[in-house]
Amino acid sequence: MVQLFALGTCLLSLVCHALSTPVRIADPSRRPLVIWHGLGDSYASPGMLEFMQLIKDMHSGIFIHSVYLKEDLEEDQKAGFFGHVNEQLEIVAEQLSNVTELSGGFDAIGFSQGGQFLRAYVERYNTPPVNNLITFGSQHMGVSDLPMCSRWDIFCQLARRAARGGVYTDWAQHNLVQAQYYRDPAKLEIYLQSNTFLADINNEVSESHNATYSNNLVSLNALVLVLFSGDKTVVPKESSWFGSYAPANSSSTTDEKTIVPMRLQPLYTHDWIGLRSLDESGRVILETCDGEHMQLTDECWKPLVQRFVGEVLDEYVPSETMLRVQD
Ligand SMILES: *[C@@H]1O[C@H](CO)[C@@H](O)[C@H](O)[C@H]1NC(C)=O
Ligand SMILES: *[C@@H]1O[C@H](CO)[C@@H](O)[C@H](O)[C@H]1NC(C)=O
Ligand SMILES: *[C@@H]1O[C@H](CO)[C@@H](O)[C@H](O)[C@H]1NC(C)=O
Repeated sequence: MVQLFALGTCLLSLVCHALSTPVRIADPSRRPLVIWHGLGDSYASPGMLEFMQLIKDMHSGIFIHSVYLKEDLEEDQKAGFFGHVNEQLEIVAEQLSNVTELSGGFDAIGFSQGGQFLRAYVERYNTPPVNNLITFGSQHMGVSDLPMCSRWDIFCQLARRAARGGVYTDWAQHNLVQAQYYRDPAKLEIYLQSNTFLADINNEVSESHNATYSNNLVSLNALVLVLFSGDKTVVPKESSWFGSYAPANSSSTTDEKTIVPMRLQPLYTHDWIGLRSLDESGRVILETCDGEHMQLTDECWKPLVQRFVGEVLDEYVPSETMLRVQD
């Protein structure tokens, strides 16, 4: 930030008064950013605060909003495991529309499950609209296994235990967040009938294709999908690129599961959510980062945040009067 002081001689008292006060050259006006944290994290954890500061160091003057469901950090973390995603999204959509700095639109970064939630925001709400959406290690085609829990993650263990009762039960589909993006290729029929979130935002239920979803997704400037090459948390890791395991094949002799890549997915080939249109116009960017799930090295996030976040919208140009005053 540069501070300039008007030190010129003032002849006209009115102008003099205005110019004798410090004139701060503002940072350029940049497109703001919204971040949605991942599972096990909260909107203002030390890691999130550090990441936001690093982005502010890169893009001076950028406004960043970190999505929260509860103001209390522990409650916010818990909401990543327990709740109904559709209701959470409604709250977040209202929250984002309330933030005046975001009213002209924003770029968005979703960490892990925050990525598919932000995509759902784009498809269902998108007011204010998202420009670029970057998702890191997200589960766009769901997971075929629940994430493993670290020993000290009590919410994760509780959620995992609760899910043993069945991920497709009505209770799980309204109370366990991970169940709402659990997609078992061996049980696609049950998934399509029972799932309350992922099947809907992926427009996989044929009777209820929603054209708003594809129209909104296609309106993105870019959709950047980041896969972690050594991801053992997201099963399969290709879900970050809209990949999934192929439906189980009983006549197959091997246990090796094959991956259906994005461009062979029915939702892509039939363009149910606009993904194909977006891709064919060069606006789906598939990126790989080395390492385990959410191992955000500088080499991973910096080039992407440099390129897709913080675009200068309104360069500050000093007026002639001020330039003269500096002489
Ligand atoms: C949005 O703003 C309205 C009006 O100020 C307020 O009643 C509401 O609680 C806010 N919603 C959220 C989610 O912050
Ligand atoms: C499609 O989605 C929009 C946005 O969420 C919603 O307002 C609309 O009711 C949906 N249409 C149908 C037919 O479900
Ligand atoms: C099932 O596996 C067999 C043998 O590997 C293969 O020939 C066949 O094409 C597979 N079918 C499907 C639907 O993937």
